[in-house]
Amino acid sequence: MRLDKFISKATELSRKEAKKVLHAEEITVNDEVVKDGSMHVDELNDEVMWAGEPLSVATGNRYILLYKPEGFECTLKAKEYPIVTELIAVPELDSLRIAGRLDVDTTGALLLSDDGKWLHRVTSPKHQHDKVYELTLAEPMDEDAQANAVAKVAQGILLEGDYEKTKPAILEFIDDTHARLVLTEGKYHQVKRMMGYFGNKVTELHRASIGNITLAGLEKGESRFLTADEIAQF
Ligand code: URA
Repeated sequence: MRLDKFISKATELSRKEAKKVLHAEEITVNDEVVKDGSMHVDELNDEVMWAGEPLSVATGNRYILLYKPEGFECTLKAKEYPIVTELIAVPELDSLRIAGRLDVDTTGALLLSDDGKWLHRVTSPKHQHDKVYELTLAEPMDEDAQANAVAKVAQGILLEGDYEKTKPAILEFIDDTHARLVLTEGKYHQVKRMMGYFGNKVTELHRASIGNITLAGLEKGESRFLTADEIAQF
């Protein structure tokens, strides 16, 4: 959003009055004085201040990326393990829901929000958003086994207990025990079951990205609000 628009939305000022306070050097963005009202600000992540007081535009909803560590459960009430929302420091945690759960032993990108429609768009296979998984296998797969798995995954496979094949997906081997799998859906334990189909076992699993959202800049256990562009892609 333009900075002058942001200021008038966050205050009682008209766009013309917003321009005046900008001109008077009363506005800072991330601690830098800014006079240009056409500058683009990210309403969730940029810190805009007027005469030292923070300004914010209420969006109503929260959209959060968490770098999930192993040992945390993606549920709302703790059973055996601590739960992922314990890692997030925002008010009203109870209203957050998770888009595409990860197993306790899986690490990586986890999206949470209180916007139900948005969460649905993130996870629904209809919307075809890529989720990239990096996995380690218990048993090495030789070239023939790799080629067979890549071809089968590209067509879709029928997993035990399911009625429908998995959606076409991309499997790439990095070496004989490491691979990348790009899925557009999220069936229960899907990656582990897909590798189980080929007689193998996943020993380590990490979700590197969801759509164009990556974990760059985050350490395990850290979270951040999504940018307006990241939210809008879903
Ligand atoms: N597939 C799995 O098997 N586990 C996860 O945590 C995510 C995808």
